[in-house]
Amino acid sequence: MGSPAFLLVAIDGGAASGKSSTARALSERFHFLHVDTGSYYRAITAELLRQGAKAEDHGVVQSVLTHLELGTRVLGRSAQMEIGGRVVPEAEIRSPAVNAAVSHFAAIPDVRTKLLAYQRGQAEVARAHAFRGLVMEGRDIGSVIFPTADFRFFLHADPVERARRRAQEGQTDSIAERDRLDSSRKTSPLTCPPGALDIDSTFLTLPEVVDRVSAAIATRLPPAA
Ligand code: CDP
Ligand code: CDP
Repeated sequence: MGSPAFLLVAIDGGAASGKSSTARALSERFHFLHVDTGSYYRAITAELLRQGAKAEDHGVVQSVLTHLELGTRVLGRSAQMEIGGRVVPEAEIRSPAVNAAVSHFAAIPDVRTKLLAYQRGQAEVARAHAFRGLVMEGRDIGSVIFPTADFRFFLHADPVERARRRAQEGQTDSIAERDRLDSSRKTSPLTCPPGALDIDSTFLTLPEVVDRVSAAIATRLPPAA
């Protein structure tokens, strides 16, 4: 028998399409490391805002980025980004200011370049912590970060339903505007890459989505005990 499989699972989709909830459930079911790359773009955005950078001023953004030291902390089954040894608190990365600014910073090529190798390196973090795989979610995971991932899923849901889900969480967030910016940017736009398994969750409950995705993965790896 060879060594057990280590699986790479990519999940992409628009805001509030169910990526994080699905990825979290998969990480439990299969003992994968869960990486929410949206939280990485949010953490970098919070730090850039803290240092007074504006998305229009690429020179300042670039110089702040050069000095950011990125690390990773593993908490349970979830990877958290450290910036200069500090994990940016949830309340800060989900703040209305970050909601409004993140897609503008995420469209800057230097920001994406800063995160590219870091995100790919999360597979090594998962292996080093003896996870059976990595489930990474975002906008460009199946298209740019891991185009040869073992599984690539793309979650769709009607924008009205997605806005309802976010509002139910009590968040101030213009998801339609973020989707527009994320889909229209030149570098790594939000798109369903050819070959990804497309799931429309508008009329599916979260457990139904998780079961559908898990059934595909279970053809390669049995759920963890
Ligand atoms: O949770 P939600 O789907 O609302 O957003 P998120 O996943 O936290 O991502 C926040 C923002 O980060 C997105 O609107 C994108 O602008 C950016 N992002 C990106 O450009 N590429 C990724 N792989 C992940 C997030
Ligand atoms: O990560 P992303 O922004 O794509 O979405 P999420 O944070 O996983 O899901 C947003 C909200 O929608 C959460 O409160 C989920 O419980 C809910 N949801 C749902 O009601 N039905 C689904 N099929 C998927 C998610």
